[in-house]
Amino acid sequence: MTGAADFLKGRLGAHAPRYGIVLGSGLGSLVDAVAEPLRIPYAEIPGFPVSSVSGHAGEFVAGRIGDTPVAVLSGRAHYYERGDAKAMRVPIETLKRIGVENLILTNSAGSLREDMPPGSVMRIADHIAFAGANPLIGLESDERFVGMTNAYDAALAIGMEEAAERLGIPLARGVYMWFSGPSFETPAEIRMARILGADAVGMSTVPEVILARFFGLKVAAASVVTNFAAGMTGSELSHEETKQMAPLGGTRLAAILKEMISSEG
Ligand code: HPA
Repeated sequence: MTGAADFLKGRLGAHAPRYGIVLGSGLGSLVDAVAEPLRIPYAEIPGFPVSSVSGHAGEFVAGRIGDTPVAVLSGRAHYYERGDAKAMRVPIETLKRIGVENLILTNSAGSLREDMPPGSVMRIADHIAFAGANPLIGLESDERFVGMTNAYDAALAIGMEEAAERLGIPLARGVYMWFSGPSFETPAEIRMARILGADAVGMSTVPEVILARFFGLKVAAASVVTNFAAGMTGSELSHEETKQMAPLGGTRLAAILKEMISSEG
């Protein structure tokens, strides 16, 4: 594990990122906001996962957003790729070891709310870990019992909301429910999710939030809505649609995060 952190410290020199950002499917445009980017493919970083999902580039990008030093993880590994909830453990632990304090996680999601159509951006205020897996299973110290009452940091949440307000970009707020995927949900599962309190559903992010809290990172997260969830319209869902629709909300989310982070300089 130390391999990745030592490797990156060697490459980064004096650059010490304060913010880490994980970009989901089709959300790579935030990388364009990174000044003086140093780009390193995951394949070159010891222990980093190389994702098999199309639309997930797998690139570590260090640089600045405004005056704030950042490290962007463009592309992620998912639980559904290998049944491994720890798939993102090395990247998240590495961010902590290279000095990151704040982690912003992004994803594409299906919306359960009529007032949150495709193209919307939703700040994740809380989550439901419905996939039945946990990245801390198998750890043997008492540190595995991570509190999740304040998993999403209050100050970062305010920072994100204020940034959206300054830009006049609507930012919804809701509960994200993690399904394992890779098949999409059924209409019955979506009706269940709504009853259980979900506003959006997706196949990622939650294990990363748990890992980040385990490693002591502060967390904020946001979803870009790519579709109404199963059964809400007549149409079938597809990954093609996710990739096609992500840039719509993705551009808005990128603007919000850029504003949020550059004002932290
Ligand atoms: N369900 C699960 N994951 C998703 C969806 C969805 O409807 N849209 C984008 N990612």
